[in-house]
Amino acid sequence: MVTLTIDGREVRAEEGKVLLEVARDNRIDIPALCQHDSVAAYGACRLCMVEISRKGREKLVASCLYPAEEGLVVKTDSPRVIHVRRTVTELLLARCPDSEVLQDLARKLGIERPRFSLEEGNHKCILCALCTRACEQVVGASAISLANRGTARQMATPFHAFSEACIACGTCAEICPTRAIDINDVGDTRIIVMPNVTMEFKLKQCSVCGSYWAPERQLEHIIRQAGLPDNAFDKCPDCRD
Ligand code: SF4
Ligand code: FES
Repeated sequence: MVTLTIDGREVRAEEGKVLLEVARDNRIDIPALCQHDSVAAYGACRLCMVEISRKGREKLVASCLYPAEEGLVVKTDSPRVIHVRRTVTELLLARCPDSEVLQDLARKLGIERPRFSLEEGNHKCILCALCTRACEQVVGASAISLANRGTARQMATPFHAFSEACIACGTCAEICPTRAIDINDVGDTRIIVMPNVTMEFKLKQCSVCGSYWAPERQLEHIIRQAGLPDNAFDKCPDCRD
């Protein structure tokens, strides 16, 4: 264990635990849009920046990546931190003016109108890579990725077309912090609307009640992974014994 100070409070933490986690353990709120416990940290959104002071030197670090150390002094709400947090929020909001999560954050930070010009169109993707990391690290499908560089950077399927690797599980939509991915089940079809592509998938019909209950591709994926018999999901959960 190590002892450090956050916002003037002395706290104990496991050595190596990242500052964001330590702060949350101590009910100190730091905004963080690209962090999720189920995937490796990535440091994309920069909203979680905090100021640290070590051996008399101060610097800004991403709290989702920086580990707790003995004697560290951390400030989560210093004027420098608030300035960076506001600027990052304004930049993200300029890219994604329709994102309610960002609008809420901006309100909390007292931002009435971002200084940067708003992009046109219905953008909600902040390029946090939570969806791509979850698709790779949790689902094991790697159906989507972040493509291109600079201003052309975007979350995309290969060639912006139907992704053969996608199993339509919806994990990407579930984990997306800005609701940039939409999922709808209509009749026998699951429709996934991503920022750059819309994909349709067949849903499996229950052999007993006839309801369409889960994407066929997702069930086939589970059958392969778990070595289950081909008919393992012929019945929906409600009609199983
Ligand atoms: S679609 Fe959502 S989860 Fe994926 S990169 Fe964009 S904001 Fe992040
Ligand atoms: S949560 Fe740390 S950079 Fe996004």
